[in-house]
Amino acid sequence: MAHLLITGGAGFIGSHTALVLLQGGHSLVVLDNFSNSSPEALRRVAELAGLDHDSARLQVIAGDIRSPADLDRALGAAAPGGERVAGVIHFAGLKAVGESVQQPLRYWDVNVNGSRLLVEAMQRHGCRTLVFSSTSTVYGEPQRFPISETCATDPRHPYAQTKLAVEWMLQALETSETGWCIGRLRYFNPVGAHPSGRIGENPLGVPNNLFPFITQVASGQRPLLRIFGDDWPTPDGTGIRDYLHVMDLAEAHGLALDWLMQHQRSLPVLNLGTGRGLSVLEVVQAFETATGRTIPRELVGRRHGDVARLEGCPRLAASTLGWRASRNLEQMCRDGWTWQNANPRGYGG
Ligand code: NAD
Ligand code: UD1
Repeated sequence: MAHLLITGGAGFIGSHTALVLLQGGHSLVVLDNFSNSSPEALRRVAELAGLDHDSARLQVIAGDIRSPADLDRALGAAAPGGERVAGVIHFAGLKAVGESVQQPLRYWDVNVNGSRLLVEAMQRHGCRTLVFSSTSTVYGEPQRFPISETCATDPRHPYAQTKLAVEWMLQALETSETGWCIGRLRYFNPVGAHPSGRIGENPLGVPNNLFPFITQVASGQRPLLRIFGDDWPTPDGTGIRDYLHVMDLAEAHGLALDWLMQHQRSLPVLNLGTGRGLSVLEVVQAFETATGRTIPRELVGRRHGDVARLEGCPRLAASTLGWRASRNLEQMCRDGWTWQNANPRGYGG
């Protein structure tokens, strides 16, 4: 069992991962500035993990990854038994593609500068085990499927560029200095929620992504789903993505961390997806079947910046970590709906 720092641990993927790690016996420090999340998520993580409300196995620090003082506080926070932070999972960052085009410097500051300050702080504290959240959007618009990790990268917007820049920075770091054990994980499309409905995705304002939009239409918060194009070169004309259950993704982080600590070297870059692409129409139909709700929809033009298809090859993650996504689309729909239904206003409800 290890004592770990989770940056961005109150967010969508971070909160589910924190729960998996606590249930696996680890103790955690979470550093989050709550710019896109709520402390309530972590209260519920503690509750689901069966912790007392003042348990030292989950320490929460409200702070910013761009602040060396906050990073020092987080990396210096010892476990209940006195252990020092042995590894970091770095989720904190900004993730909205459109916003990154409008505010590129903010994305370079938080995603790249924040990551640089984090690894510098890790150097100060003698901690060299790191898992970094990257994204499948670094592949741009590939032509061959499923996408393997050897596929050329082609980051087309500041969000993808900043994520790839951090991947490169980490690669250069491990080349220049021995002792680093780094995992760079490229996620496809995480969706769903913990099956309890206590934690889930909490988008502020109008959701950009398909799944939270569907669940908000199902709950009556939004009148209808707009489908962005039916003229894509796909079998039904709508966009294809590789959706994976957020609990599967959370479990992959636990395995990646165990691997790094056991092998004491870096992982190859890994795709985390299911290998099975689904179209917008397939997702909508599956959601209606799984939940019994009707999703009113209209067809509109393509969304600027979209690609036809993204579908990741999960073979390397399977052979390296022994990880495979195990939850199906029905579970993604059901669990996402349970969360939305119980928390129509997210953590603010
Ligand atoms: P999220 O926004 O729910 O979580 C990010 C967390 O980081 C939030 O709790 C936010 O408050 C915190 N944060 C942001 N800036 C911070 C700062 N400067 N200092 C401290 N905390 C800060 O996002 P998520 O969906 O959980 O994504 C987690 C990571 O995974 C992100 O780095 C994202 O780019 C990456 N990712 C997400 C997806 C996806 O579809 N959700 C896909 C690929 C990669
Ligand atoms: C988007 C980002 C991507 C980011 C990912 C996770 C864009 C162009 N891409 O990916 O970089 O990594 O979110 O945060 O923003 N759709 C609709 N109606 C909607 C919403 C989506 O039809 O209201 C369609 C899209 O056209 C797409 C599919 O649903 O075909 C999935 O969209 P989305 O959930 O936004 O994911 P990505 O486009 O993969």
